[in-house]
Amino acid sequence: MSADKAGDGTSKRRRSPRTIAVAVAVLALVAVGVYLAARPAHNPTALIGGPFTLQTAAGKTVTDADFRGHPFLVYFGYTHCPDVCPTTLADVADAVRKIPDAPVRVLFITVDPERDSPAAMADYVSSFDSRFVGLSGSPEQIAAAEKAYRVYARKGPSQSDGGYSMDHSSVVYLMDKNGLFVESLDLQRPADDTAKEISTYL
Ligand code: NI
Repeated sequence: MSADKAGDGTSKRRRSPRTIAVAVAVLALVAVGVYLAARPAHNPTALIGGPFTLQTAAGKTVTDADFRGHPFLVYFGYTHCPDVCPTTLADVADAVRKIPDAPVRVLFITVDPERDSPAAMADYVSSFDSRFVGLSGSPEQIAAAEKAYRVYARKGPSQSDGGYSMDHSSVVYLMDKNGLFVESLDLQRPADDTAKEISTYL
């Protein structure tokens, strides 16, 4: 016989902790609601993106202003990345290939300027799509770009072959034609959905 069917004081007493839990949960939700209503308006465009100055393979200096006029995607990583960067860039390439004529640019900015020259970046992205742009720069220029995009990147421990990996955040930022942050792309969706999402900002 289960306790629920007892129909006596026992089951009633057993229900009360649950009642308290529900009350606590409701109070927590109310508290969150009050907090959300009371805090200043959250403006993500003020938090992500901004001015940067970087280098292309042609030895040209580019800034964020050069990419305005059309939406662009921004992704930080490095060419020695064993898995996350190539997988993410392949997903992005799948999406932008669905809109072959769209003037959208995909900026791949290195977090490893020590090894990734502007030429290495350009060479690396050439296998994805012609609208990809590989960018590097001085350590100071890279640090400033990382800061603007709230990117986390740190050199990992040295490996036996003298190499090293980079720990880094992996977010694809969608910027609108004015260079303002729209959202981080959800690449778990089918490429068609991502392409459609990008298209709405053309
Ligand atoms: Ni990576």
